[in-house]
Amino acid sequence: MKRNVAPVKLDFKETFVKSMCLISHFVFIANISVTGIIGSTVELRCDELNGTFILNNFRVTWRKEGEIKCFVETYDSDEDLTSYREKNQCADFRDRTRFKEELKEGKFTLQLLRISPKDEFTYTCVVLKKNEEGKFEVHREVKTNLKVAANYSAPVLTRMLSGEETTFNCTSSHGYPQPKVYWVNHTDISLLNSTEQYTRAPDGTISVFSMLTVKAATAIKLECTIENEQLHQNLTASIDTSSPENSPSVDNSPSKTKGAVLASVAAVSIVILLIFYIGWKKRRTSVLMTYTAPAEIGNRNFGLPE
Ligand SMILES: *[C@@H]1O[C@H](CO)[C@@H](O)[C@H](O)[C@H]1NC(C)=O
Ligand SMILES: *[C@@H]1O[C@H](CO)[C@@H](O)[C@H](O)[C@H]1NC(C)=O
Ligand SMILES: *[C@@H]1O[C@H](CO)[C@@H](O)[C@H](O)[C@H]1NC(C)=O
Ligand SMILES: *[C@@H]1O[C@H](CO)[C@@H](O)[C@H](O)[C@H]1NC(C)=O
Ligand SMILES: *[C@@H]1O[C@H](CO)[C@@H](O)[C@H](O)[C@H]1NC(C)=O
Ligand SMILES: *[C@@H]1O[C@H](CO)[C@@H](O)[C@H](O)[C@H]1NC(C)=O
Ligand SMILES: *[C@@H]1O[C@H](CO)[C@@H](O)[C@H](O)[C@H]1NC(C)=O
Repeated sequence: MKRNVAPVKLDFKETFVKSMCLISHFVFIANISVTGIIGSTVELRCDELNGTFILNNFRVTWRKEGEIKCFVETYDSDEDLTSYREKNQCADFRDRTRFKEELKEGKFTLQLLRISPKDEFTYTCVVLKKNEEGKFEVHREVKTNLKVAANYSAPVLTRMLSGEETTFNCTSSHGYPQPKVYWVNHTDISLLNSTEQYTRAPDGTISVFSMLTVKAATAIKLECTIENEQLHQNLTASIDTSSPENSPSVDNSPSKTKGAVLASVAAVSIVILLIFYIGWKKRRTSVLMTYTAPAEIGNRNFGLPE
């Protein structure tokens, strides 16, 4: 059946609203939440799960909530939508959308490419279905709430002594959304008061700079935690100013420091022993030609003539 499609294209909004009113009792509204990672592709699903699915009987349009002048993506089996799309696709979604190739199976999954914080909206999948008279009516709607996130980098903790105060800085970058920052006094697990500064990169990601000041005299074991609530992720850096190393690190255990000191003492001892040994060997070889060096390595009597 050939239908007159031109008015639908030119006046999608009116048709859309009319059909909404006509058959509003058929409309099924779901409520889905999806988290997308900045810069990557996210999929918004809208499945037609009826076994008697025939693609030609459907039209699908993905819309942005509150936006009636343009659409995000649309599908119509009968039409070449090129010019319609050019005119009516929302500019900020141009070249960033596509349907996953499962339309024939009734899956109107929208792929949104290279997502950014500007894409945080509720999206509505409007499915129109042909009725007995060959007219399209709103059949179904699926709402998806898109949230955007990005991983923060591992926090870096630095400290600086100045007079009677010690300042600790904790920085972490390229995450989203704005994080929560906690400074914890590890001795009594109490929260400490800090100041935060947030900066936004051109790609929308956020960097955080947090500063904490304490009295210089106090030895303190501290933790700085960056919490990304959207990703349910906590990243922590810690510092122990009473440790002999005295430098901050993400994993600074006293046993490691002790081990390093022992290792360097051992290394120096070995070098000294080798010098003695070489000198001794030279003297020995000139006297005793049958001597074999390897057997003597590890012997505690280096430097002591037998
Ligand atoms: C849909 O989900 C959003 C966020 O998850 C929520 O704020 C809203 O109240 C929900 N609406 C309905 C009708 O459940
Ligand atoms: C599935 O399709 C049949 C025939 O078109 C219709 O009667 C039925 O209501 C549909 N079911 C759903 C859940 O859409
Ligand atoms: C974020 O980073 C953590 C480790 O730093 C990793 O395990 C996780 O998979 C990352 N998440 C995403 C969404 O990239
Ligand atoms: C901490 O940040 C302040 C302010 O930017 C700066 O003056 C100070 O040098 C920083 N300290 C360290 C240890 O990075
Ligand atoms: C950390 O907690 C200990 C134990 O309660 C306390 O003695 C110390 O003053 C605290 N340090 C700071 C900087 O609040
Ligand atoms: C924390 O710092 C803020 C501003 O720097 C201040 O207004 C607030 O009183 C402080 N809170 C505590 C518990 O020290
Ligand atoms: C992250 O740390 C905060 C503060 O300690 C806590 O409330 C939150 O539950 C933690 N979240 C995760 C995912 O561990």
